[in-house]
Amino acid sequence: MVLLEVNGVTKHFGGVAANENVSFSVEEGELVGIMGPNGAGKTTLFDQITGFQAPDSGRIIFDGRDVTGKRPDRICAAGLARTFQIVRVFPELTVLDNVVVGALHRHKDVGVAQKRTYELLERVGLEDRSNALGRELPLAARKRVQLARALATEPRMLFLDEAMAGLNKKEAGAAVELLKSFRQEITIVMTEHVMEILMPLSDRVIVLVEGKKLVEGQPKEVSTDKRVVAAYLGEKFVASGE
Ligand SMILES: Nc1ncnc2c1ncn2[C@@H]1O[C@H](COP(=O)(O)OP(=O)(O)OP(=O)(O)O)[C@@H](O)[C@H]1O
Ligand SMILES: [Mg+2]
Repeated sequence: MVLLEVNGVTKHFGGVAANENVSFSVEEGELVGIMGPNGAGKTTLFDQITGFQAPDSGRIIFDGRDVTGKRPDRICAAGLARTFQIVRVFPELTVLDNVVVGALHRHKDVGVAQKRTYELLERVGLEDRSNALGRELPLAARKRVQLARALATEPRMLFLDEAMAGLNKKEAGAAVELLKSFRQEITIVMTEHVMEILMPLSDRVIVLVEGKKLVEGQPKEVSTDKRVVAAYLGEKFVASGE
């Protein structure tokens, strides 16, 4: 079943075409990786799907409903949550309250929201840090807080923008294991610069270059696609490679 359909989404910032006629769909249960060089338009695409930017044109259909240009809280209520490339954690709130903010989207009762939060903190390995302030946490923990807050909104679909950026090898490995533990329960679309991380995790990969969708396919096909190699390394590597 198709859960998300993105149709011809276009977004310009002045003279920059951040997204140009981008279309793809995501089936329920899939993990789709979105890759592309810096400035390819990945974050802009996520911003539009999750309501933080309105597209200039194109449509976004989630679970059969047109959510194009809707507010982030409405899209979150529809079941689509995200994390941010530039990690967003309330610095003066405790870890607990940072995640309760998400849980309150679903549970008006604070006690119920807190109970749900404790379950999630345990799941992401932050149960011992529930009273720490957001600003006291290292990046890896702040990323987990973001993830827990997104999950606390009980989404059907999760967008993770640069899920492992800035983490060391060990932390990234732990983050991959954590992600794997959720993937059976939730549909995921993620960006990640490290191909060795993104490729084995993804059921399908979409490559954006200069705002346009260049290639879409199985990780194996995509990693050997000449157009992708050219986009990352330059044409001369492709020409001399064979
Ligand atoms: N709010 C904005 N105002 C003006 N230009 C923007 C804005 N947001 C993005 N851009 C431009 O749009 C293009 C796409 O940016 P975007 O951040 O979506 O790329 P990205 O693929 O997420 O890059 P990165 O890998 O560095 O995170 C870039 O040229 C960027 O400078
Ligand atoms: Mg980005």
